[in-house]
Amino acid sequence: MKRIIAVIREERFELVKTALLTAGCEGMNVSTVKGRGRQIGIKESYRGSSYCIDLIPKTRVELIVKEEDLDEIIDIIIDSARTGEVGDGKIFVSDVEEVIRIRTGERGNKAV
Ligand SMILES: Nc1ncnc2c1ncn2[C@@H]1O[C@H](COP(=O)(O)OP(=O)(O)OP(=O)(O)O)[C@@H](O)[C@H]1O
Ligand SMILES: [Mg+2]
Repeated sequence: MKRIIAVIREERFELVKTALLTAGCEGMNVSTVKGRGRQIGIKESYRGSSYCIDLIPKTRVELIVKEEDLDEIIDIIIDSARTGEVGDGKIFVSDVEEVIRIRTGERGNKAV
């Protein structure tokens, strides 16, 4: 099993969520984070002064998926999250050792 953490634009989240649900991918954790990537920051004007905002709110979607579904789900996220502009976000993938559904005691792929 794999963990996908996708850090995406807030305004793209509804599209990404709908695409994931349509593909049958239902379990997910969603949170708002503040982060930064490669660019130095955005200059924003506030009450007449210019501020450099280097931490930008993003939506963080975490999914645990079966290994066989990984590539399809990554493609779905890319297709629905991409605008082509800087700041589209990133996808991080890592291994997950075990998943246990507490109600039934099921483990592994059956519990995802
Ligand atoms: N190396 C990283 N580690 C952890 N989080 C990251 C990393 N890079 C980006 N992020 C998260 O992803 C968000 C979006 O990053 P962003 O899309 O700007 O990446 P980038 O590498 O600068 O790519 P781009 O050039 O397309 O903007 C950041 O605000 C941050 O929350
Ligand atoms: Mg960036």
